[in-house]
Amino acid sequence: MNNRIVVVGSINADLNVLVDRHPAPGETILGSGGNITAGGKGANQAVAAALQGADVAFIGAVGNDPYAQPALEFLRSSGVDLSAVTEADETTGLAVITVSKDGENNIVVIPGANALVNCDYVSSHSDLLAHAGIVLLQGEIPADGFKEAVHHTMGRVVVNLAPVIEVEKSALLEADPIIANEHEAGLILDQLDASIDSTDPHDLAQALLDAGFASVVMTLGSAGALVADSTGITDIATPKVQAVDTTGAGDAFAGAFCARLIKGDSLVDAAQHAARVGAFSVQTAGAQASYPDAGATLPTV
Ligand code: RIB
Repeated sequence: MNNRIVVVGSINADLNVLVDRHPAPGETILGSGGNITAGGKGANQAVAAALQGADVAFIGAVGNDPYAQPALEFLRSSGVDLSAVTEADETTGLAVITVSKDGENNIVVIPGANALVNCDYVSSHSDLLAHAGIVLLQGEIPADGFKEAVHHTMGRVVVNLAPVIEVEKSALLEADPIIANEHEAGLILDQLDASIDSTDPHDLAQALLDAGFASVVMTLGSAGALVADSTGITDIATPKVQAVDTTGAGDAFAGAFCARLIKGDSLVDAAQHAARVGAFSVQTAGAQASYPDAGATLPTV
């Protein structure tokens, strides 16, 4: 397998707002913070993988506004190949993130330039995709860009469909694995007309396999993760840590997971490492700024 990971995804500037608690519908509350940091699920996963030592290239877009530079900071410093990132006459993707005292977040994303990562744009980078060992996708680009990326992939497709957007069924089922949390797993099953009554993670994982995925990785927050394929379902423990900010923890997991997978780890070994990287990331504020490099001491289970 070619050892390059190509991420086709979003690049956002994250506007971080700290609140005591999340507002109820119709309620106004006071917050603090207001700083801009690097985010976007695609960019977060690319940076997480690169910091774990992987060779990573990115297909995406930023605007020609002041948010582009902070949004690209860690992609640049972690050595991600940005030759397929265009600067468009648009606004850079913006995520408004409220983080409460218990570390939980709410996120609203304005796609901006990420909306340009469509079929035509992705197709113009087909060579990069054809030579990738892993193509890693999320749900913050247009559905036709997602489909086109899968179409040109000769290697392994890994999908973390966050947020869950409607994508072509045959393209989605190429994911090996599909990475999802419990909520996303339910929505993906709905999309595939394969909904189940249970919310038990093992049942959801089995339903995703039954729906046609070759493998499933389900992230379960502080409860760890699980890996499911035709050989069975394996629970993955995660280290117990004090959560300060969970923003981008799932992205840290997905990026670190792919970094290990492309080096030849099994799904289970890669997920065990990724759970430790995800746990490391929740201990400090922000998404990419909280990610460990390969030399960091990771928390243990
Ligand atoms: O998963 C966290 C990310 O979601 C943030 O960085 C934000 O940009 C949104 O894409």
